[in-house]
Formats: sequence, structure tokens, C-alpha cells
Amino acid sequence: MKILVTGSEGYIGSMLVHVLVDKGHDVCGLDTGFYKEAMLYDNGRKPVTTIVKDIRDIKASDLKGFDAIVHLAELSNDPLGQTDPDLTFAINHKGTARLVKLAKKAGVKRFIYASSCSVYGASDEIRTETSVPNPLTAYAKCKVLNEKFLIQEATDTFTPVILRFATVYGLSPRLRFDLVVNNLAGLAFTTGEIKMDSDGTPWRPLTHVLDIAEAVACALVAPKEIVSKEIFNVGNETSNYQIKDIANIIKTVFPEATVSLNPNGADKRNYKVDFTKINSRLPGFSCTRTIAFGAKELKDAFEKAKLTNKDFTSRFYTRLKQIFFLQKTGKLDKELYWI
Ligand SMILES: NC(=O)c1ccc[n+]([C@@H]2O[C@H](COP(=O)([O-])OP(=O)(O)OC[C@H]3O[C@@H](n4cnc5c(N)ncnc54)[C@H](O)[C@@H]3O)[C@@H](O)[C@H]2O)c1
Repeated sequence: MKILVTGSEGYIGSMLVHVLVDKGHDVCGLDTGFYKEAMLYDNGRKPVTTIVKDIRDIKASDLKGFDAIVHLAELSNDPLGQTDPDLTFAINHKGTARLVKLAKKAGVKRFIYASSCSVYGASDEIRTETSVPNPLTAYAKCKVLNEKFLIQEATDTFTPVILRFATVYGLSPRLRFDLVVNNLAGLAFTTGEIKMDSDGTPWRPLTHVLDIAEAVACALVAPKEIVSKEIFNVGNETSNYQIKDIANIIKTVFPEATVSLNPNGADKRNYKVDFTKINSRLPGFSCTRTIAFGAKELKDAFEKAKLTNKDFTSRFYTRLKQIFFLQKTGKLDKELYWI
């Protein structure tokens, strides 16, 4: 299958492209390159051919010949979205909607969309795909708009599949430390303190980056009748954790580190998600990685890269810092176009 992966130079994309190549697909990337310079390590893989373009500038001719698109290229977290909600709307909703229209025009048959469990917002009840979304941020609101738009655009020849990723963790050359497991592991390694930004009680669904990639791979080849217009939460029955449990698992991998909480911390997000649907309905899918596995591979990579606290807190691994840096140094304009 000939597949275009947008956002191929991001945290998930840099792992996903190789998972798809290993499954025998012909994979091309597309990315504007906001985080291109940030590589924690060289994975030794031959890079896939990459179209260097902003999704807002794509033409139907760029998409001709692809059987499927996996769309990851958006501004990828809540804080980034909250600093400029209009820009988030312009890229994450308008950019995505335009890409969908062009994909249909170019004859692309399948479209896998990277949505997020953040569409559920805060809730004390377990959320399923049929729960009413409660998006609290510009980022999450755009995800809901895009899901609805994609479902409307489905036809006999255009199969959209929506994957709501849980918060992702695990190793990738373009690591993000603004994600809870990676953050706590990085803190353990570089400061010796697993410092939670909460009282540890909030629940959070979490999935390893390679299990996310497996879900995408399964959604690409599943029979159209099973997946068209369907929404799947990506994870399994063990994916919901309280932050204090995550900290304690990380402590088993970094035994010298201390664990601390912050009852007045900023992180109030709290939700549990049901993953029954993907595990019972998406052929071939199962999650096989655990947080202990993810923390161990992170530790090994930190040791190899000799990760310092300066690296850990640098712009390379925190999306917001890198975007601000590129703007402040005159490389990106206000609308995040390269100057
Ligand atoms: N990482 C998570 O925990 C998580 C959870 C739920 C959903 N998601 C979704 O998965 C997708 C990928 O997430 P990620 O963690 O890999 O993010 P990331 O920020 O690491 O990667 C996004 C990539 O998209 C590119 N990009 C951004 N805007 C672009 C534009 N206008 N044109 C072209 N390229 C552009 C960036 O340069 C970057 O390489 C996003 O849509 C995100 O919302 C991620």
C-alpha cells in the first residue's frame, strides 16, 4: 500500500513510518519540520522520502497516487493550542479539513486520523466512544470538529477511520518530554526526583508509541465495512493509570530516585477511558507494551545519549519552547510559516 504519513518527523511519526515500512508498505512522509533538529539518538534507519511542506499549502497533486493518508501533522498539545487558539483552529481544523477535501479529490481511499482522548475533557465516569465529548481546549475542540467533518465526508470510495490516542509514552528519536511518562522518567534520570505536578490522584489513559503505531497499521488494512466512519479509543484494559501509580512504576526502573507530589500542582486533568471497542473490533490489534517497558527503554536511551538536565529542559523536546524559539529568532512568522 502506498501511504502518506503527515507529521512524519514528529514524536509518533518518526516511529510510525518505520513500523509501516517493516510491514511492507511504500511510505512517504510530509512535514514542515518544526522539530527536525531535535534528535535524541540516531535510530540507524534509512529515512523515508519526505515532502517538506505545510499542510496548509498542500495541493491535490501532492496527494495523487497514495492509497492512504495517516494524518498526524497538527499543533500537538493543549498548552500550544491555548497560547493561540485562532492559529490552532487555522492549522488543526481548517488545515485538516482542507487536506481531507484534497485527499478525496486526489482519489485517496483511506484516511486515518490522529484524534485524542482529550476530547473527553475532565470526567469522573469512564468514557467510551459514544460518550458525549467535553473538549476543554482549542486543541481538543479542533479534534472534535475534525472527527465530525471526516464522518460526513465518508463515501463508498473514501474510508475515514478515527483513532483517539491516549497520552503516548515511550522511546522515539524525536522525543517529547511534555508527556507524563517521558517527563517523569526524564526527571528521575536528570534530577533524581520523580516530581508529580499534581497530588498523584488524577487518572490518565496511556499507550506506548509502538502500540499506537500498531493501531494505525491495523486501521490501514482492516475491511472497510468494519472501520469506515468508526471512532476507536487506542489502548487496552490496563491503560488507565493514576499519576501516583505511574510515578511508582518509574521508581522501580530508577530505584535511586525519590517520588514527590504537589497537591497544588497545575495538572488537574482527570479521566478514564474504555478500550473495549478497539480490542474487540479492530482485526489484529493488541497492546503489548507496559509503562515499565517504556521507562526501561527510556532509561537505556538516556544513558546512551548521556542526557543532562539541560538537554531535558531544552527546546528540542518541548513543543511550546521550540515554536517560541523559532518565532523569537525570526525563523517562523506569527502564523508559523517559515520566513
Ligand atoms: N503524543 C500524544 O500523546 C498524542 C496523544 C493524542 C493525540 N496525538 C496526536 O497525534 C499527532 C502526532 O502527535 P505527536 O506527539 O507526534 O506530535 P509532534 O508535535 O511530535 O509531531 C507533529 C509533527 O507535525 C508537524 N506539523 C505540525 N504542524 C504542521 C503543519 N501545519 N504542516 C506540516 N507539518 C506540521 C510538526 O513539524 C511535527 O513534526 C497529533 O495530531 C496529536 O494531536 C498525540
